[in-house]
Amino acid sequence: MNHMSVTIGTPLQSSAFKVLLLGSGELGKEVVISLQRLGVEVHAADRYDHAPAMQVAHYQHTLNMADPEELKQLIAKVQPHLIVPEIEAIATELLVEIEASQTTTIIPSAKAVNLTMNREGIRRLAAEELGLPTSAYRFANTLESFRAACDDIGYPNFVKPVMSSSGKGQSRVKSFAEVDAAWEYAQTGGRVNQGTVIVESQIDFDFEITLLTVRAKNAETGEIETQYCDPIGHRQDSGDYVESWQPQAMTAVALEEAKRISHKVTTALGGCGIFGVELFVKGDKVWFSEVSPRPHDTGLVTLASQYQSEFELHARAILGLPVNTTRHSVAASAVIYAGVDDTNLSFSGLNLALANPNTDLRLFGKPEGFKRRRMGVATARAETTDQARELAQHAADQVIVNQN
Ligand SMILES: Nc1ncnc2c1ncn2[C@@H]1O[C@H](COP(=O)(O)OP(=O)(O)OP(=O)(O)O)[C@@H](O)[C@H]1O
Ligand SMILES: [Mg+2]
Repeated sequence: MNHMSVTIGTPLQSSAFKVLLLGSGELGKEVVISLQRLGVEVHAADRYDHAPAMQVAHYQHTLNMADPEELKQLIAKVQPHLIVPEIEAIATELLVEIEASQTTTIIPSAKAVNLTMNREGIRRLAAEELGLPTSAYRFANTLESFRAACDDIGYPNFVKPVMSSSGKGQSRVKSFAEVDAAWEYAQTGGRVNQGTVIVESQIDFDFEITLLTVRAKNAETGEIETQYCDPIGHRQDSGDYVESWQPQAMTAVALEEAKRISHKVTTALGGCGIFGVELFVKGDKVWFSEVSPRPHDTGLVTLASQYQSEFELHARAILGLPVNTTRHSVAASAVIYAGVDDTNLSFSGLNLALANPNTDLRLFGKPEGFKRRRMGVATARAETTDQARELAQHAADQVIVNQN
């Protein structure tokens, strides 16, 4: 039996199927390109003009997405079929309301967006409700309780504001002498000045992975099924990914456990779309770290390794269409930073970066660069992940950032 499936109209006409993207970074840009290819009308929103995804969307909207009133007005104006959050810093409580009114679908679900925007929500779900293995943890919202939490968890530990991403306000605390400084840093680095931090015991892992997990409808039955990409290995520097590769070799037991954990957490979050499940691995043992209910930065490697990149997988899944997570190549990605704080940057050396036929490049078109802002990524295919990593890094190194 054929289930009710999506009908896509004509962009810019009354039949248009409309998607509103909240957050218009480089990952959103690739999602927009994938949606454009399927004839979807795309609206891209962010807090600043000319953000990467805006440059490839039909409409761009600049607003403060953390302000429920501004966001409500935008949604009323656009009347999207789907709302696709690309960042965490949005008025998620409004999305819960909108989902309840059944006029618009929140991707993947209001619950997922709401729980993952705060480390406390997702950690309590994973560890306490679902019983998944995680690091030991405590929450604290005063200096006093924070000192006690650090002593309780022991050293070294990881301190993170509950509302933060990309390593902001995060520190690795090696002894009690560093505790007060970590508190100060967490208070300035969080997204909202809400004060609560998580203290996590350090997991002594062999490597960490992102298991891209897709919840998508079966073409015949319309039932939501869970599929996995091959595990992606990555290296983090100051809370930011600098290179990733696929596949990451791991034991069959660890891979099964990684899938079990990912299945449990994504099923609890619900809806359709791709999730980046971050896991720590040591031998056969796997710990859940966190999850993004959207494409993951380390998954940029899938642009080179899979028939359908994580962005295409997301676009298809959110439209209720079937997906294919098959990998065709071994590949790696390496990040390109601005290296300077300036606007109007230009990029040269691209001929050398692309000299090897197995390399590729994305330049995001961000209107402003900062020293540690990601401006592009190089990808490479090779026989082995070591070769792919070397080639991707070499390609990234050829790109020269110039000030104008
Ligand atoms: N408990 C832990 N034990 C060991 N390493 C950890 C722990 N917590 C974090 N790390 C290291 O720090 C990195 C960043 O942590 P985490 O993913 O929680 O922060 P984030 O700000 O959400 O980063 P991103 O937004 O880039 O995913 C991890 O990928 C891992 O390398
Ligand atoms: Mg992370």
